[in-house]
Amino acid sequence: MRIDPWSATTYQDYAKLREEFGIEEFSDDILKTLPNPIKILRRGIVFGHRDFHRIRDAILKKEPWAILTGLMPSGRMHLGHKMVIDEVIYYQSIGADVSIAVADIEAYATRNYSFKETKRFAFEEYLPNYIALGLKPEKCRIYFQSKNTDVKDLAYILGRKVNWSEMLAIYGFNSSTNMSHVLSPLIQVGDILHVQLEKYGGIRPTLVPVGVDQDPHIRLTRDIADAFRIYSITKTSDNKIGVFVKVDKDIKKLLDVAQTLLENLGYKKLKRIDSYKAIYIDDAQEGDIEKIDFKFAKKEREFNENSFIAPSSTYHRFMTGLTGEKMSSSKPETAIFLTDKAEDVRRKIINAKTGGAATLEEQKKHGGKPNQCMVYELFLYHLVEDDRELEKIYFSCTQGERMCGDCKKYAIELLEKFLKELAEKREQAKEEIKHYISNG
Ligand code: TRP
Ligand code: SF4
Repeated sequence: MRIDPWSATTYQDYAKLREEFGIEEFSDDILKTLPNPIKILRRGIVFGHRDFHRIRDAILKKEPWAILTGLMPSGRMHLGHKMVIDEVIYYQSIGADVSIAVADIEAYATRNYSFKETKRFAFEEYLPNYIALGLKPEKCRIYFQSKNTDVKDLAYILGRKVNWSEMLAIYGFNSSTNMSHVLSPLIQVGDILHVQLEKYGGIRPTLVPVGVDQDPHIRLTRDIADAFRIYSITKTSDNKIGVFVKVDKDIKKLLDVAQTLLENLGYKKLKRIDSYKAIYIDDAQEGDIEKIDFKFAKKEREFNENSFIAPSSTYHRFMTGLTGEKMSSSKPETAIFLTDKAEDVRRKIINAKTGGAATLEEQKKHGGKPNQCMVYELFLYHLVEDDRELEKIYFSCTQGERMCGDCKKYAIELLEKFLKELAEKREQAKEEIKHYISNG
């Protein structure tokens, strides 16, 4: 199985995705440690992560950490695009240092949009919506890929550690894929890692919240970040932590540096074997690995300008389209757009696929199926804040106490209110926005 970030695949079985791609579960244990988690975190809509522990540790220890996300400035923004930004806004509120890439190079290379068009989509559609939804633009950095030389330089520089057959295995490119498209994942690698350059805050844990379709880019970025490191810090077969030198020059000197660093970190039981290019730490705890990796990445930066720690990520589920097929900007009836008018909303909800029974009588008798209902999905993902209220809706549906007509009416009411307030904030945001776009 392959995840294609540019295709229209739908995903059903998220547990299987996790297993197949080695994504970890976003578990209650993690959730417990976050301050006032938002509903898509509480409700399992964010279903997986890579290395979120790094982020959690930074939050708990009040150490700096970064968020990098990107938006594809194409078409209109709909509710399916809202999850990532909900996450970003939440993380910003608990101290993340936020950067947002406008992926105009990617939209040009993979979707054929001109730079003029993508600029308009960014300024008139996406960024005003982000701010209207609650992003604080004065506390984040928004940039265009095409205007950021550091990002483009990194794409070129970091591309040296990935070869064509690896790109083929990840993305399934073929002989007619255009070269700008081939390069665009590397631009995204540049987006993600550039926040760790000194100019942008230096090496620190970096979280990339995305839909699971973006996982290939995350894997590529993590592999490249690891490939550029001089030291690798790994768990050994007997559950110890080992520090290994990956290069073949100056081994003794590099092991000296590593030994001093480990001693300074307070480790006392070190076993150094120069012929293995390794130091084994006998008195490390299992959870120390990220901390050690972080210290080494920083140390390395003194003599390796391409030292980065691999980014962490979270993955959210996709909303189903209102009609039951995939939600897509190119099929307006499948999605609620953030700029939809009241009459569009009404029509789309009235026509939405529900989990209701064929007749009222049957529904009263056997109940409905909220798990297969697009209206319930709207409540779950976006419209109902209170978990107890949501639970009530769920059970009154399955018990046959709730009928789809009333339910739809309620959804329309909530949506109209939400969109109306958003529209007002968006108009204000359009004025503000121009002050907040950086060229660097
Ligand atoms: N590829 C992303 C999309 O299709 C957009 C994007 C560009 C991005 N750079 C990024 C997402 C960096 C996350 C991180 O929507
Ligand atoms: Fe969906 Fe509501 Fe109908 Fe249940 S009653 S199937 S939640 S619309």
